[in-house]
Amino acid sequence: MLYTNSIEKTVTLTAEQIKDYRENGLLFIPELFSQKEVEAMHVAVEDLIVKDTPGRILEKDNTTVRALHGCHLDSETFNALTRHPSLLTSAYEILNSDVYVYQFKINFKAAFGGDLWPWHQDFVFWDEEDGMPSPKALNVAVFLDECNEFNGPVYFIPGSHKESLFHLGQIKSSEVNGQEKDWKSNVSAALKYSLDKETIAKLADEKGIVAPKGPSGSVLFFHCNLVHGSAPNISPYDRRLLIITYNSINNIPTFKGQPRPEFLVSRDHTPLKLLCDKVLI
Ligand code: SIN
Ligand code: MN
Repeated sequence: MLYTNSIEKTVTLTAEQIKDYRENGLLFIPELFSQKEVEAMHVAVEDLIVKDTPGRILEKDNTTVRALHGCHLDSETFNALTRHPSLLTSAYEILNSDVYVYQFKINFKAAFGGDLWPWHQDFVFWDEEDGMPSPKALNVAVFLDECNEFNGPVYFIPGSHKESLFHLGQIKSSEVNGQEKDWKSNVSAALKYSLDKETIAKLADEKGIVAPKGPSGSVLFFHCNLVHGSAPNISPYDRRLLIITYNSINNIPTFKGQPRPEFLVSRDHTPLKLLCDKVLI
């Protein structure tokens, strides 16, 4: 069931929505945030994008911004967003525990230049690179721009979060320990771990593919083991997608080997406390 809300108030999930999430691995809520709230997020992005922070990643052309990482560490607005009741209450309900921010990124998918994201599950990165014990983490994607069929929407295979899949590039954890990790291959179009064509063809045949689309302010909750990817953006429309990953405080990574930078994997495991629902405006 879809739930629409265009004024500033807390959205809490219904039992039916939580059931949908558990079955399909995703839940889409169009226009959860109002346009005033979206504007506040746009201002925060404009403030951040001009800063040459280590978490700012460029596309292959070395000019177009691909992503900003760790934005909650550098912006009060984004820090507050992580504690917005509509997101945080949903995270409590879905993960059944207190949570902290594991990762915060904005994927830009720029008009005429935003590159692809190969098919993958996120948990493989957090397991292999950080030692996250189990897939008890939740992605919350906020549409900063309208997402349509032209500007590279994310494709998902519903129900694929129940599959434990072997990724290209994945090697036994014992061989990874002690090796220096190249974190750049975790955020580029040449992704370190990805799923092969046969796996995707079989899963898509069984379960189909969905690509949630909608106005800015829409929110998509998705499981960290849900198979997803996206195509390059050759349209004239930007597709900025903000993704907060909440992790259960009972699922803190072991940080095996050399830890990745803090803008990719948070060291602050303090349980998040709710702010009021007007916090962005
Ligand atoms: C995308 O921004 O299109 C993909 C995001 C992801 O893989 O997390
Ligand atoms: Mn991903």
